[in-house]
Amino acid sequence: METLHAGVVLIGFMGSGKSSVARRLAYRLGCEYIDLDSRIELAAGQSIAEIFTTQGEAAFRRLETEALKKALATPNIISPGGGTVTQPVNREILKAAVQNGVSVIYLRATPQTLAERIRRQPGKRPLIDGDQILDFVATRRRVEELLAQRQEYYEALATAIVDSDNLSLDFVTGKIEKILKPRND
Ligand code: S3P
Repeated sequence: METLHAGVVLIGFMGSGKSSVARRLAYRLGCEYIDLDSRIELAAGQSIAEIFTTQGEAAFRRLETEALKKALATPNIISPGGGTVTQPVNREILKAAVQNGVSVIYLRATPQTLAERIRRQPGKRPLIDGDQILDFVATRRRVEELLAQRQEYYEALATAIVDSDNLSLDFVTGKIEKILKPRND
């Protein structure tokens, strides 16, 4: 990855578009991207929802930390899961990465937007849909509750914040490209 010497991590809540933006950004910059949840699923041979059910959240968080460390070992475009920032160890890893020049971009969206996007993939997020699939209003309430706990971490860790409500994938990706450019001059 010549154009982004140290790498990029896209952080943000479930449904903020991290995976889609990482894929598009990698395409536009002609480099690879790593989706942490996909790596974890591949290694475990289980979906994230199955890992939560059979191994529990604590086990998932350990796998997530290992995957994050591995992904950051080389310059990459990385999309971690939305809860990565809840773990103190991961926050330290991300802070150290920023010290080494990695850009941490917070993809911000309102609870309304996040709930709409989450509802398009029912059953995929165990921390939203536990034993039962929530309706839209209950989903938004759950998003608000979790976001209230996490927002300060997203904001504190970010080297830049990009809003994604009502914006196209290309527009958001373009904004990130512009943010990354000055760092390469
Ligand atoms: C989680 C977010 C999910 C996934 C897991 C836990 C969270 O990833 O890692 O379900 O705690 O916010 P996405 O943000 O890609 O949905």
